[in-house]
Formats: sequence, structure tokens, C-alpha cells
Amino acid sequence: MITLFARTKYSTPSISPSFLQSRSFFSFSFLRSFDRHEPYSKFIKITNLTKTDEGLKILWTDNHKSYFHYIWLRDSCMCPSCYHSEAEEKLLDLVSVPVSLKPLSLSLTKEGNLEVVWNDGNNHKSTFDTEFLRKHSTASSVLPEDYFIWGRHDLKRLPEIPYSEVINKDEAVLDWLNKLMKFGFVIIKDAPKQQGISKQLAKLVNFPRQTFWGEDWSVKNTPNPENLSLTSLELKCHTDFVWSEYTPGVQFLHCLKSAGNMGGESVLVDGFKVAQVLREQDPNAFNLLSTYPVPWYFRTKKFDYTFRGCVIELDKNGNVKSLRYNQANRLPLDGPTQLIPDMYRALRKFAELIRSTNLTQTFLLQPGDVLVFNNRRLLHGRTAFDSRAERYLEGCYLDLEEVMCRRTILANYLSRNFSEPTFTPDTITTPMDVSPIYTPTPSFESNATSSTQ
Ligand SMILES: [Fe+2]
Repeated sequence: MITLFARTKYSTPSISPSFLQSRSFFSFSFLRSFDRHEPYSKFIKITNLTKTDEGLKILWTDNHKSYFHYIWLRDSCMCPSCYHSEAEEKLLDLVSVPVSLKPLSLSLTKEGNLEVVWNDGNNHKSTFDTEFLRKHSTASSVLPEDYFIWGRHDLKRLPEIPYSEVINKDEAVLDWLNKLMKFGFVIIKDAPKQQGISKQLAKLVNFPRQTFWGEDWSVKNTPNPENLSLTSLELKCHTDFVWSEYTPGVQFLHCLKSAGNMGGESVLVDGFKVAQVLREQDPNAFNLLSTYPVPWYFRTKKFDYTFRGCVIELDKNGNVKSLRYNQANRLPLDGPTQLIPDMYRALRKFAELIRSTNLTQTFLLQPGDVLVFNNRRLLHGRTAFDSRAERYLEGCYLDLEEVMCRRTILANYLSRNFSEPTFTPDTITTPMDVSPIYTPTPSFESNATSSTQ
């Protein structure tokens, strides 16, 4: 055992803003810690090291305990021969490191960081700062995402955030994205009632997801519609792009004009809650929908997509990971013949649950509202509206990994209280009043179709 004394003041590593904006190799567990409102202490230090046959135990000044295998430490070496600091990629060839490698010596530097000299014939030296070790402590690296799974009566009010804050403050962007992941949706309030806002907001996060509809698209009652969203009919709750292997993670819907008292209310249901209820009420249906893929399709004159995917996707621990469901885009079932009746029963049960008034939220988007939701968790729909109403929405998609990336960058950035901005949002260079929407310009016509609500 090696006993060490805690230093009274933490030496903050020198980290440049440019590094914080770059891909951070070891920031994910820190982000989760940030999300759970566990403030990172600048004063937590290593107080004790204990060698074991295969790894190192660390005791911290707050009595937190960590354990790192030697091979993990050797693999995580960030010295110039093991890691390219500018490219931020590993150089170390794992084949060159014996899994049974042990240290020759373990010690702390005067800054309190861990220094290891390896028994590899070359006396290779690795240094790990305390922040890195704490971030990767076994006890703090397994925290789940902070989901709030809701039914109709679980939300006292819909999660909202003002557009004026999102567009101006990094803290508001982080708050927005944290709420999006927690509740599955957020309404950004009082945005300008002009085109391009949904794409502008998506670009505050990262790159909008390009689809065959372009970077953004519109939803309105249209003659000769290519899909049901371009009618005034009711849309039952669904996820978008069920027929795509990689469904868009986040959807934006910016209301430029509502149907007012003529219908067109938005409907949301938390798919995680639906799956939870289904698992409790009908475990056989849950097992079928999470085991046997359903064939999905999307077809127009130009496109013909098909994909087979389960309605409920589970992770390796059996937790619900994502939902995929749109009754309007389902092909005839083609699973094992003996399971066909039970599959239909399961699909009917699922369909009943997603329209259950105990589970759904129904509200009217106001002009200037931007609904942002997790398309892999929530199912969305709309009530029918009078075909004479000029209901108009504009939207775009964003992949979930872009949300996770921006949260990581912002959480790291803001936790260090740098004064300079991390991100300069795109500005709308050609603001347009809402009126051109109803007398489309050529550029507007080029992206005017969608499959949302
Ligand atoms: Fe949709």
C-alpha cells in the first residue's frame, strides 16, 4: 500500500477552448455526471494507491474508490508515442502490449497525478491526471441517461424554453438538449414566424440530417399528396422513417400557421412508457414486438424503400432502446406462420396503447412554436383539421449522435467557465415574412414535401 497526502489545492489542467470544441476522447462519463447535477470538484485528489495482481485501487479524498486494470491504464496512455494530441487519435498498437503487463513503479507527481513506469523492457512511462482517472472511475461510468418516462398526467406542464435564450446562450442550448433527452421533447417558444427556423435551430446543435426531402421540408394540405401528412386527415401516432435502417433521431416541427379552432392538434406519446405498460400488461406481446421484425415500406414515384425492424428495440440488458412504428407504412407480416395471429394481437395491443388518453399529450402548437422531439422514443401524430385551414409546419431532422456530441462539448465547456463562446449560431441572412409561404418561391417549392405531421 502506498499512502499519500491530499493536496489542499487542485491544479486545473491547462485545456484550451479549441480542445474543448474538438472530439473529446474521454468526456462521456463526465457528461453523464454533469447531467445528474453532480458538480465536479476541483479539490478531489488521490489519497491512496493500492497495488493488486492485476490492477490498481485508488482511494480519493472524498472516500470514492476506483479500480483500474493495468492493461486498461497502459492502453489509455496519452504520451506522445501512444496518442497523437493534434489528431486526437490513438497511436498505440494494442498488439504490442502484453495483457499481463505490470508496473515497475507507481507514484504521484507533485501535481497529484498518477505516474506509472511499466515493466515492458523499455521502462515506458505513463502519466494520468486525476480528472481523467475520476471520469473513468468504475463507479461513475455506468450511470444511465436521466430519462423521465411520462404518461398523460405525469407532466405538470410541457417542457419549454424560449427561442430568444436558445439562440443567444450556450447554457440555454445545453438546457434544451438535456430536456430533450430527459422528457423526449421540448417546445421552443416564440420563434420568428418565418422560414428556415427549424434548420437554423438544428444547426445550433450540429449538422441537420439530409434526406431525399432535403435539409428541411414543409407540411401542409397539398393537392395530389405523396403521403398522408400532406393531407388534412388525422395522423395516428407514429415514428418517422420506419422504413429506414437508421431512423432520424430528432425531429423539428416549426409551426408557422396553425389551424386554430379548426383542428390539427399535435399528439405525443412516450414510447418508453407505452413499452413499459405493454411489458406489464401483456408480456407475450412485448416479447413478440421486441423479437420479430416487421416489414416497413415507403413508396412514391421516385423512391421505394423497405426495411424490417422490431417495433421495440432492446439493448443487451433488455432495456427499451428505441421504438419503430407507423401503421401507414407497414407491409403484410412475413414472420413465422404460426406466430402471425399473435403478432397481429400484439400490434393491435400496441396500437391501442399509443392512442390511450391515459398516455398521450394533445396540444395545439401556436405560430412560433418549434416542437423538437426524440423520434426514436416518442411517437407523434395530429388530429384531423378542416381542409380549408392554412395549417403550415416546417421541419427538419437531426441525428441523436449530433445531440450527444453537442451536449458533451457544451457540458465540458460550460463546466470550466470559459468566457468566450463555443459556437456562433448561423444567422438567417434573408428573413422572410410568413406570407411568401402561401405564394411559394422557386427555392421554396424545391423542398416542399415531407412525411411528418
Ligand atoms: Fe411524422
